[in-house]
Amino acid sequence: VLAVARSDLQPPRGTRDFYPEDLRFRTWLFDVFREVSRRFGFEEVDAPVLEHAELYRRKAGEEIVEQLYHFELHGRHLALRPELTPSLARMVMARQGALRWPLRWFAIPQCWRYERMTRGRRREHYQWNMDVWGEPSVTAEAELLAAVFAATDALGLGPADVRVRLNHRALLEETLRADVLADRPEAFAPLCVIVDKLDKIGAEAVVEQLADPAGPVALDAGAAKELVARLGIRDLEEAARQAPADSPAVAELRRLFELLDAYGVADRVVFDASVVRGLAYYTGVVFEAYDAAGSLRAVCGGGRYDRLLESLGGRPVPAVGFGFGDAVIQELLADRGLVPDLPRGLDAVVYPLGEEERSAAIRLARRWRAEGLAVEIVLGQGLRMRRVLADADKAGARRVALIGPEERARGVARVRDLASGEEREEALE
Ligand code: HAM
Repeated sequence: VLAVARSDLQPPRGTRDFYPEDLRFRTWLFDVFREVSRRFGFEEVDAPVLEHAELYRRKAGEEIVEQLYHFELHGRHLALRPELTPSLARMVMARQGALRWPLRWFAIPQCWRYERMTRGRRREHYQWNMDVWGEPSVTAEAELLAAVFAATDALGLGPADVRVRLNHRALLEETLRADVLADRPEAFAPLCVIVDKLDKIGAEAVVEQLADPAGPVALDAGAAKELVARLGIRDLEEAARQAPADSPAVAELRRLFELLDAYGVADRVVFDASVVRGLAYYTGVVFEAYDAAGSLRAVCGGGRYDRLLESLGGRPVPAVGFGFGDAVIQELLADRGLVPDLPRGLDAVVYPLGEEERSAAIRLARRWRAEGLAVEIVLGQGLRMRRVLADADKAGARRVALIGPEERARGVARVRDLASGEEREEALE
C-alpha cells in the first residue's frame, strides 16, 4: 500500500482549494472586476501561467524575482508567473505593428510568489489587472484610478474605506539625476526597491542599505539620510517647492489631481512621497490603494512603466496599469461584514418516486432546463420526501416537482412552491 503523508494531502502551504462556496465568492468578485472593466471599455486577455524564467530576469533586487517558482525541464528554464505585466509586454511586442493604440486590456490571472505568509499575503493569488498601452498622458492614470474606486464602490466599500496614496517616481529621479546619481542612472531602480521597504524595515535600515558601499546604490550616508527625510512629504505643494523648477513630474501630478476631481474621486487620493513601489520597471506615477483603517497590506498597486517594452527589446510604448489582488480585498470585506451570502442558484428539484417515473421526470427536467432553469434530478432511489424537501430548501430551490405512480398515470407532476408551501399540478406533456 502506498501511504501518503497527511501533509501531502493538504494543498501546498499558501495555496487554496476552492470548494463550491469559495468559488461562488470568487465568481462574484470576478464578476465585479469584469463589469467595471467592461464599463470602462477594456477588453479581457490572458496568457499562460507558465513562462520562460528569463522573462523575469531583472537585476534590481526585487522581492518578486527572488520569490519566483521556477524549474528546469528538458533544458528549459520555466517559471510560474509572479505577475502578469511581463506577459502583457511580450504579447504587445509580438503584435506591435498591428495594434491600434491605446490598448485597454484587463485580465484576472492567478499569480505565484514564494512569499512569507501574512494576512492577505499568499503564495498564489488572483490579480485583477487593468493596463493602458500607448497613452503617454495622465489621462490614462485617471481612468485607472477611477476604475479602482468603481470596483471598491461596487463591492460595497464606502469612500472612507479605501484610499489611494500616489507619487511620481520622476520626482525623485529628477532630483537624484541632477545630483548624486548623475553618473549612475542605473542605480535608480535598485534605489526604489530599497525605498519601498520603508514601512517594513524602518528608516534607519533603509538609510543603511542605500549607503551600503557594497550594495547597488552606495550613496554617501549624508545623501541617504537626506533622501529618506524627503520621503516624509505628504503635500504636493511642499514636494513642488523641493523639486526642480518647471518639473514635468509636478505638472503631471497637478494635472492628474484635476482629472481625478472631474471623476469625483480626488478627495480619496493623497500625495505621499514615500510611495515608490517595489517593482523596478515603474518610471512615472505610482500608486497604492489601501484600507483606511490601515490594518492590511495594499489592496492594489500600480503605476506607469514606459520603458518596460524597450528593456525586453521592443520599440518603446508608454504604458500604465495596476494589479488588484483577491486576497486582501477578501479580508477587508470580511472585516466589514460585506461578504455576501451567495446562494447556489438552484431553481428546482425533480423527484421521481420510483424508477418507473424516471423517464417522465427526465422529460420534465429537460423542458425546464431548456427554459434556462437550474434543475437537479434526484438520482438515487428510496429517498424520503421529507429529506428531498429539506435538501431542496437548503440548496435555495424554489420548487420541487414530485412524480409518483398516480401522477404518472394522470400525466402530471405535483409541483410544490417551497416558500409558500402551495402545490399545483403541471402537465407533463
Ligand atoms: P504588485 O504590487 O506586486 O504589482 O501586486 C499588485 C497587488 O496584487 C497587490 O497590491 C496585492 O493586492 C496583490 N498581491 C501581490 N502579491 C500578493 C500575494 N502574495 N498574496 C496576495 N495578494 C498579492 C504587480 O504585480 C504589478 N504587475 C501590477 C501592475 C499591473 N502594474 C502595472 N500593471
